[in-house]
Amino acid sequence: MIQATNIHKRFKQFEALKGISLEVAKGEVVAIIGPSGSGKSTFLRCLNRLEMIDEGSIVIEGEELVTTNAEGKIQYANEPEARLICRKMGMVFQQFNLFPHLTVLQNVVEAPMTVKGVKYPEILPVAQELLRKVGLEDKMNNYPSRLSGGQKQRVAIARALAMKPDIMLFDEPTSALDPELTGEVLKAMRQLAEEHMTMIVVTHEMGFAREVANRVIFMDKGEILEEGTPEEIFEKPSQQRTQSFLNVVAK
Ligand SMILES: Nc1ncnc2c1ncn2[C@@H]1O[C@H](COP(=O)(O)OP(=O)(O)O)[C@@H](O)[C@H]1O
Ligand SMILES: [Mg+2]
Repeated sequence: MIQATNIHKRFKQFEALKGISLEVAKGEVVAIIGPSGSGKSTFLRCLNRLEMIDEGSIVIEGEELVTTNAEGKIQYANEPEARLICRKMGMVFQQFNLFPHLTVLQNVVEAPMTVKGVKYPEILPVAQELLRKVGLEDKMNNYPSRLSGGQKQRVAIARALAMKPDIMLFDEPTSALDPELTGEVLKAMRQLAEEHMTMIVVTHEMGFAREVANRVIFMDKGEILEEGTPEEIFEKPSQQRTQSFLNVVAK
C-alpha cells in the first residue's frame, strides 16, 4: 500500500528526516513511536504531501507520488494526479481541525461533497453510519464547541473515513485529550484496525501500540532506529536508545 524509500527532508540546514524507508502492506497497522522532535509528524506529513521531500520516493498503492531521478532531482506527480493519490489517505491530527461553524454532520459530509462532488442524499446515510460507528449518532446536529475533546476527535475520524480512504494516518490522535477521554478514541481506532484498515499511527499510547499494531517503528533524530513486532520492541529492543525511551514512557 505504501512504499516510502530513502526519504530525506530538510528545513533549511536542519535535516529532519535522514533517509527513512518504510513499506506498509494492505491491512497492516504500523505504530511509530519515538521522542519528541524525532521526525514522526514530518514523515506522516511527507506521505500525504503536506510537506515536500528533498530526496527519495513515495509510491502509494502502486502509484508514484514522487521519485528521485538518476541525477538526484526530485519529481512529483502532476498536481491533479498527486491530489488523487493523496486522497487515498485520510489523516487525523492531534488538534482535531473541525470546522467550528459547521455541525458534526456537516463536518463529515463537507469534503465528500466539495472535493468529490458526492450528492447530499448519497453521502448522508454514509455519514450517519460513520457517526453511529464512532458512537456519536446523538451529536450529529451539535456544533464542535459543544463536544468534548474525545467526541471531537471521533468526529475527525468519521470525517476522514467519509472520503473512503484506503489508508489512515494518525498523528498522536489522543495527545491533546484528557486521560479519561483517550479510551473512547482508541476504541474507535481499534475497531478500524479490526476491520483491516491499513493504518500508520504515531502514538505515545504504548498499550495501544502493543496490542493493536502489527509492527512498531522506533524513530530517533530523523532515522528509524529499529523496528519489529510489538513483542520484539517492547520485550527485548536491540537498541539501547529504544530501551531508554521505553523506560521513560512506560508507566
Ligand atoms: N516547518 C518546520 N520548519 C522547521 N523545522 C521544523 C518544521 N517542522 C518540523 N521541524 C523540525 O523537525 C524536527 C522533527 O519534527 P516533528 O516531525 O514534528 O517531530 P515529532 O513529530 O517526532 O515530534 C523537529 O526538530 C522540528 O523542530
Ligand atoms: Mg509530532
